[in-house]
Order: sequence, then structure tokens, then C-alpha cells
Amino acid sequence: MDRKSGALTVLLTGASGGIGHALAHSLAARGHHLLLQGRNTLALDQLRASLPESHRHLVVSADLRDPQQRQELVRTCRSLPNGVDVLINNAGVARFALLADIDDAAMRSVLETNLLVPMALTRDLLPLLQRSRQAALINIGSAFGHIGHPGFSIYGASKSGLHSFTEALRRELGDSQITVHYLAPRAVDTSLNTDAVVGLNRALGNRSDSPQQVAEQCVALLEGGRSARRFMGWPERLFIKVNALLPSLVDSALVKKMPVIRRFAEQNHLNGETS
Ligand SMILES: NC(=O)c1ccc[n+]([C@@H]2O[C@H](COP(=O)([O-])OP(=O)(O)OC[C@H]3O[C@@H](n4cnc5c(N)ncnc54)[C@H](OP(=O)(O)O)[C@@H]3O)[C@@H](O)[C@H]2O)c1
Repeated sequence: MDRKSGALTVLLTGASGGIGHALAHSLAARGHHLLLQGRNTLALDQLRASLPESHRHLVVSADLRDPQQRQELVRTCRSLPNGVDVLINNAGVARFALLADIDDAAMRSVLETNLLVPMALTRDLLPLLQRSRQAALINIGSAFGHIGHPGFSIYGASKSGLHSFTEALRRELGDSQITVHYLAPRAVDTSLNTDAVVGLNRALGNRSDSPQQVAEQCVALLEGGRSARRFMGWPERLFIKVNALLPSLVDSALVKKMPVIRRFAEQNHLNGETS
């Protein structure tokens, strides 16, 4: 933390994506110093240039699935004069497909990016976070981590695992100064969702949020001061509760939608879409 201004140093993974972009703008507008991580260096440079006081922010391009590139990112964080106060694990990939159409490489990509990477990065940055008086960890999950949705079995498993990891860590670090947060958006209007996913959501009447709405919720968690978790969207929040109490009700509702889900999953597969 910059003691004079109170500005926090935030490592934001997936900054080059839709939610990352909105989050970077919200955090920069509050005067925080950002480490903008992603793989697409051009997009990251453009994002940095578009932020207020762009000289305060750093671009760190890395494929987080590569342990060496991840270590290089951790080394960069350690070299910062004010350390890192906040880690936002936002980078992620999705895969909309029936299980029969998902090969091992695709499973590995989703599970590594959405689950192994945030766990490893959190572990490696803990010593730095422990030095900050305003340390926070925010993990970006998904409503699909709480409602097993056909066509998103592997993605849902990765986000469900991320939620479980966050919950355990919130308790493990409960007697420390580090706050641990979890945010589960419903569908968000970003390029993570292929045309088939957008079509599926439309056909099922699923509503979506803007990346800005997700950024606002994320900033509210950070500024709330206490460890917390949030689920976005109505009726999704209700469905999550019903699913926890009466999963068989949700089973029958979703099984009835299988013909539509199958049609869009097949369209996605035919289009050769990887998410
Ligand atoms: N969009 C939705 O409907 C939705 C709903 C619920 C939750 N979420 C979650 O929100 C988060 C952000 O999603 P988004 O919608 O903003 O997606 P997005 O626009 O596709 O952005 C994904 C970001 O993750 C980065 N990334 C992916 N794999 C990476 C890797 N191996 N190493 C480093 N960076 C990697 C991408 O970097 P490059 O582009 O530079 O490769 C990009 O910055 C994800 O965790 C997602 O699961 C999204």
C-alpha cells in the first residue's frame, strides 16, 4: 500500500478480458495501482494506456498455465517497492459441450486455468499479502459452480472447486488480516460466451449482466472490509438456494430443457468453438 495516498497495489489476472477490462477501469478510477495480467500483450498495453494515470500501472503478460511464467509473475510482484495488497483471480476459460465431446486436453485447460492456477498463485503470493495491512483475495467464480448445468459439467466443476477452495481459505486465514472474498456472476456479456452460449441463454430466457455490473460488485467486496461472498442476479440467487435444499426439483427443470441444451451444444461443437 502507498502509505501517503492509501492506494492499494492490485494484481488483476485476466485483465485483457471483458470483466478484467471493466474491473481495471473501476479500480484505477479509485486511485489503485494495477498489475494488469493476461496473455494478449497488445490488449493489455491498450488497456493500460486507456486508464487514468497510466504510468502507475504495469502490464505483466504471462500464460498462467505455464509454471515458469507464473513464477516470473510472482518474482515481479516480489520486486515491487510496496508489495501486493490485493490478488484478484479473474482469468478463466469456459467450455460449453456435452461431456462426450470434451477431450482430456480441454478438461485440463479448464481445470488448470480456473482452479489450479488461482490456488497456486494464491499460495505463492501469500507471503506478500501477509505483509500488507489491507490484504485481500478475490476469486471470481460462477453461478454454474453452484447449479450443475448440463453442457457445463467441467466448467461448473472448476468453479465449484474454486468456491470450496475459497471457503476453506477464508477459514484458514480467518485469524489473519487477509480478507477472502468470492464473487459468483451469472452470465456476463463478454467474449467468453460463444454465439451458441448466447443463443442458449436467449432460448432459455437466462438474463445476463454487463462487465461493469460485475466490476461494481467486486469493488464493493473489496471496500466492504470483511470477508464475504456474493452471488449475482435474480432469480439465479433463488435457484442456487433451491438447488442446495431440493436438488431433485432443479434436476427435473433442467432435464426438461435438455433438447434445447443439446441443440446449442451440438451447434457449438460443429462451429469448432473452444468455449
Ligand atoms: N462471461 C461470463 O458469462 C462469466 C460468468 C460467470 C463467471 N465468469 C468468470 O469471470 C472471469 C472473467 O471472464 P470474462 O467473461 O471476462 O472472460 P474473457 O473476456 O474471455 O477473459 C478471460 C481472461 O482470462 C485470461 N486468460 C485465460 N486463460 C489464461 C491463461 N492461461 N493465462 C493467463 N490469462 C488467461 C484471458 O487472457 P488473454 O485474453 O490475454 O488470453 C482474458 O484476460 C472468468 O473467471 C470467468 O469464468 C464469466
